[in-house]
Amino acid sequence: MQWVKIFTGSAEADKRLVENKPQLLIVEGKRICLVKRGADFLAVNDRCPHNGESLSKGLVNFAGEIVCPWHGHQFNLKTGREFQERSPDVDCYPIKADEDGLYIGI
Ligand code: FES
Repeated sequence: MQWVKIFTGSAEADKRLVENKPQLLIVEGKRICLVKRGADFLAVNDRCPHNGESLSKGLVNFAGEIVCPWHGHQFNLKTGREFQERSPDVDCYPIKADEDGLYIGI
């Protein structure tokens, strides 16, 4: 796994991301759906495992799931699991904060 810096720190990420609003990020050619939720930054593959829609065009529900805008499958942002197992899990990516930045592991 490779750690890639995406923000200079949590403060910059807090300033640039809106709570519970998915943001598309392209890191090393990979499309990532990034969500700030409370103190957490959560990242999943942007490609919906059901039929390929961009998850960053979806929304986050009360349970902390990203809801695909096409057919409504709901993926847990921490585990990647679709809550009714209607499609395979979406890949999750770890995020870590260092003294010099916020990193994603891909
Ligand atoms: S493409 Fe995402 S639920 Fe069908």
